Amino acid sequence: MSSHEYLLDNQARQAVDRFGALSALFDPVTFRHVDALGIGPGGRCWEVGAGGPSVPDGLADRVRPGGRVLATDLDTRWLDGRTGPSVEVARHDVVTDDPPDGGFDLVHARLVLLHLPAREEALRRMISALRPGGWLLVEDYDVSLQPLICPDAVTSDHRLANAVKAAFRQLLVDRGADTELGRKLPRLLREAGLTEVRADAYFPLAVPAVAVLEAANVRQVRDALVERGDVTAAEVDRYLELASTAEVDLATAPLVSAWGRRAPS
Ligand SMILES: C[S@@+](CC[C@H](N)C(=O)[O-])C[C@H]1O[C@@H](n2cnc3c(N)ncnc32)[C@H](O)[C@@H]1O
Repeated sequence: MSSHEYLLDNQARQAVDRFGALSALFDPVTFRHVDALGIGPGGRCWEVGAGGPSVPDGLADRVRPGGRVLATDLDTRWLDGRTGPSVEVARHDVVTDDPPDGGFDLVHARLVLLHLPAREEALRRMISALRPGGWLLVEDYDVSLQPLICPDAVTSDHRLANAVKAAFRQLLVDRGADTELGRKLPRLLREAGLTEVRADAYFPLAVPAVAVLEAANVRQVRDALVERGDVTAAEVDRYLELASTAEVDLATAPLVSAWGRRAPS
């Protein structure tokens, strides 16, 4: 998918809030898995669709001394000059560009594949960059497992929030996103030839950073949401207001983390 088709492109000023919120919500999950996979000093990592600097920098902390972290994205504006010195940043389309050389110990992509209609091709390219014995860690939502932004919907505002969220997800689907990708990841990894495939999932139920994420995402696509016709401008604005109040418990879909190993040669 080229940058103009990706719904939440990084040109928008909301991208920096999105990356901060994703980091607060999911970096502990990501690094719990990275650490369990044994990524440490001297390791070589490729962070695909990195978005902001937090994951590449966290990987760099783990692989020092002697390691290497390559952070790539379609649009590197939130990485350039923001990552630590031991992170190499490159513009790269994971669907169409040749995978980088490197024989990586870890290739990681979080919330990237679900947006890509050619996700299996991207997966193939990511796996080809692993050294024999190296690990792929892929993390994506499964929206259908838990589709509600407001699971404890007891007021009309809560129900409105769930309706706006449903409309937002429809926009993602219109652009080719697979909102049920999470559950499919173990199978896709096995079918792509990986061994020792495992997966688990996490979702926040009442964590303030969800509101920041929601505000960033929904503000960015407000006009497209209204144009689609499922919700009115007034409803979207009421939702944004609601998301900014501390009293509402907002959830995300479960983030499925799936990992597997390229067979040692
Ligand atoms: C939802 S953001 C997730 C960012 C980051 N991985 C995280 O979890 O915080 C998706 C990222 O994937 C990037 N992206 C989308 N399509 C891509 C492609 N074809 N190749 C590389 N990166 C892509 C976007 O530019 C964006 O930075």
